[in-house]
Amino acid sequence: MSKNQFGSKIGLIAATVGSAVGLGNIWRFPAVTQANGGAAFLLLYIGCVILLGIPVMLAEFSLGRAGQSDAIGAFRRLAPGKAWWIAGALGILASYIITCFYIVVEGWTLEYLWQSISGDLYAGVGRLEAGGDFSAADAVFLGKMNEYISTPVAPVAFTWLAILINLGVLTGGVQKGIERLSNILLPLLFVLLVALCCVTLTLPGAGAGVEWFLKPDFSAITAGTVINALGQTFFSLSLGMGILITYSAYYPANTKLTPTAAIVALMTLLVALLTGFVIFPAVSSFGLTDHSLTGATLVFQTLPEVFACLPAPQLLSAMFFLLLFVAALTSTVSIIEVSIAFCRERFGMSRFKACLTTILPLPLLSMICSLSFSSLSDFKVFGLTIFDFLDSFATNILLPVVSIGVCIFVGWFAPKGLLKRELTNNDTVRSRIAGAVMFIIRYLAPVLIALILVYTFI
Ligand code: PFF
Repeated sequence: MSKNQFGSKIGLIAATVGSAVGLGNIWRFPAVTQANGGAAFLLLYIGCVILLGIPVMLAEFSLGRAGQSDAIGAFRRLAPGKAWWIAGALGILASYIITCFYIVVEGWTLEYLWQSISGDLYAGVGRLEAGGDFSAADAVFLGKMNEYISTPVAPVAFTWLAILINLGVLTGGVQKGIERLSNILLPLLFVLLVALCCVTLTLPGAGAGVEWFLKPDFSAITAGTVINALGQTFFSLSLGMGILITYSAYYPANTKLTPTAAIVALMTLLVALLTGFVIFPAVSSFGLTDHSLTGATLVFQTLPEVFACLPAPQLLSAMFFLLLFVAALTSTVSIIEVSIAFCRERFGMSRFKACLTTILPLPLLSMICSLSFSSLSDFKVFGLTIFDFLDSFATNILLPVVSIGVCIFVGWFAPKGLLKRELTNNDTVRSRIAGAVMFIIRYLAPVLIALILVYTFI
């Protein structure tokens, strides 16, 4: 068997789910859910994943497996001499930019893991009382967050450590590196998440948080809510980043794409749900509902406070940050692989050389992103720090543009019957949804994604 192929069905699913399940599900999901009114948003998000996420994922899978190359090469092979490869190039650009800032956050998770184990995170904080006055603890954890994230040296060092770990996995190759890592870490991620759920769901007063998370208030839905649900769908399923095109080129010819996409989407939804069951009950049980759950605050300030209310805060905190690191690692491995595949296909490099070439600029670029929280915080691009600018540019502009490109290409311009051939494995298996998927990627998906883009601009 070719080494550039996943070795087993479980392995390819674990790797793809590992890519999808990342900080977007565990950190971004609770924040957007809180900001958009809870259960009604959750329902919308589930709807978007099923109606749009799965079809667009199938379009990327079909393109990748039929193209048997990297994100640019797939377009080139299927449409030689045409400019469609630019969509692939933008996907690779998006993936590289996202890597530069995402790996910084992966570094933070390592730093928090270390500080949970060493005890420094909880030094000077006694056991907190549910419903009590959290203002002193707020100040302590905010101070720690500034110390761990907004100083120049330690965050950069932990980011570099994260880069080294990624390099170690990626030089191992598709089967011995990515697949093996995912086979071990994905089950660990589920075990940790379920264990944390057991703790938070049994807290006194947890019910109010669960109710808020699960009881929809449809009056909370606005146009903005819908757009946010769409955005969360694309980010959480790793669409538009070239990842799924790259990974599906490693799928064997007999892999059934529709069930694979369905499993990946379901597992991603399941992780989002479980994360909600960890966070909302805990926050409501300790009376922290007024805390902002946005971005870094939730994970690096509010949750440590929650752990400080519980017995064995260090252990729970270490479990949580390990979980976050695992989720981030299986995602960064997939996104760096996009550029590695490109170097290998385009320049015929060995895997080792492609890994080094791809990873070599990362320490410097990620350091610049990391320093935008400290020494470079006054340096602004369009009024944003470097970190925020790269995040907005890649997430709000590049990802939708690439997804529109993929949909229009597969829907209208790819060799005739490509989607159907891929979904039916050359007419050897049945596909009941090929027609519906085609309709969605031809008409519905491009229009809705274009709406996200327009909304972002206005
Ligand atoms: N679905 C991934 C997530 O939610 O985190 C998207 C992703 C982002 C994958 C960044 C890889 C990555 F480096």
